[in-house]
Amino acid sequence: MIKPEIQDAFNKQINAEMYSSYIYLAMAAWFENENLTGMASWMKTQSREEWGHAMKFFEHLHERGGRATLAAIKAPPAKWDSPTVVFEEVAKHEQQITGLINQLVDLAQSAKDHASVNFLQWFVNEQVEEEATAADILHKLKMINKSTNGLFFLDRALGERK
Ligand code: FEO
Repeated sequence: MIKPEIQDAFNKQINAEMYSSYIYLAMAAWFENENLTGMASWMKTQSREEWGHAMKFFEHLHERGGRATLAAIKAPPAKWDSPTVVFEEVAKHEQQITGLINQLVDLAQSAKDHASVNFLQWFVNEQVEEEATAADILHKLKMINKSTNGLFFLDRALGERK
């Protein structure tokens, strides 16, 4: 049976992952409006992945005899100044999520909840990838600067994400 403090912390993480899904969907809507359909598609895929992250916590709680409780998801922003500003926010957001995952690992370790420590390793690895991807796209956007051609090619490349 999962300990109540771990259950509470995992429920908070479900909300954080759901918010991630929500904010990336909001970014997808913004990109659609900007006619950057490749970036919109990339964000929709990212939003689905985040939903999947929330579901991993949901399933883990139930496998351990706990219970997922769902709280309100805060409204994400609707507008950004540029694609670069969007990906700056993605990079910052993923760093915050990494911080939350690390806190969960600390908590699970101090509670001697080995199953949760093990479960969380997937997220530790995932966050390395998430931060690297966001940093890479941000770096490319900064190189492109205001070149329309560059933006067009990057949009097309990001649209190829499955
Ligand atoms: Fe679920 Fe992008 O962290």
